[in-house]
Amino acid sequence: MDIGKQPEPCGALYFSRANRPGAAAGGRNFHLMDANKLDESRLPRHIAVIMDGNGRWAKRNAMRRVTGHRAGVEAVRSTVTACREIGIKYLTLYAFSIENWSRPKAEISALMKLLELFLKKELPTMLERGISLRAIGDIERLPGNVRISLRDCIEKTSRGSDMVLILALSYSGRDEIVRAVRKILAEKKPARERGIDTEIFSRYLDTAGIPDPDLLIRTSGEYRISNFLLWQTAYTEFHFTEVLWPDFRKEHLIEAIFDYQNRERRFGNI
Ligand code: FPP
Repeated sequence: MDIGKQPEPCGALYFSRANRPGAAAGGRNFHLMDANKLDESRLPRHIAVIMDGNGRWAKRNAMRRVTGHRAGVEAVRSTVTACREIGIKYLTLYAFSIENWSRPKAEISALMKLLELFLKKELPTMLERGISLRAIGDIERLPGNVRISLRDCIEKTSRGSDMVLILALSYSGRDEIVRAVRKILAEKKPARERGIDTEIFSRYLDTAGIPDPDLLIRTSGEYRISNFLLWQTAYTEFHFTEVLWPDFRKEHLIEAIFDYQNRERRFGNI
């Protein structure tokens, strides 16, 4: 399904697969997830996702890992579509970490091909749906053809004002912070001479101008941050689900937002 081309009905009843009786994951009682349950005045402005479990999904289905990643792209399309429909302004997806460079060459190459294909295929839909693309991470490490497609997509979608899709590619939070420090040190009049605080420092990060995530979702039953948005998640609410990324759909997103809306955010206040 292309992003936004076949909108899933908003307000319909959604069945949370993770909670289906007998489902491999979850184990809670099944319930119906209704998009109308969401409080539109308290939607997270920015959702970040650690898309995990492609490999386990493939293993569970007796398939190759790359098939799991391919199925993961469908979940990406579905999630971008759903966020756009619900009215989420920023969506950040952890698509490739710096640590992922140590995976077998064939898997890296398959992931890069999927990414390039995704950028080429989804560009018209992003334009049509007012979605602008941004990338964070050490982009220079990506293969040339991927960098070209990425820059082309970023440039062509730059006027999109309905939603920002941010892809974290060759990304690690610690690396981003170190690169920010290097940028400061490389300045003619280093920021340290002008004075530096958290707000000024944020401007040197890849996420400059992007609000911090309100909600972070991690799939596949892992409970780690894995070097993702270390600076930006200081006050982010976390939602963990057992669902493997290729199975993640709109009903799971709604469930995560619903969970978020039931939290009390105090930002260190009382
Ligand atoms: C984690 O699963 C997932 C990744 C390392 C890559 C995520 C990539 C995609 C969803 C597809 C390409 C993305 C875009 C934006 C087109 P894993 O392989 O670590 O799974 P495992 O922990 O079960 O082995």
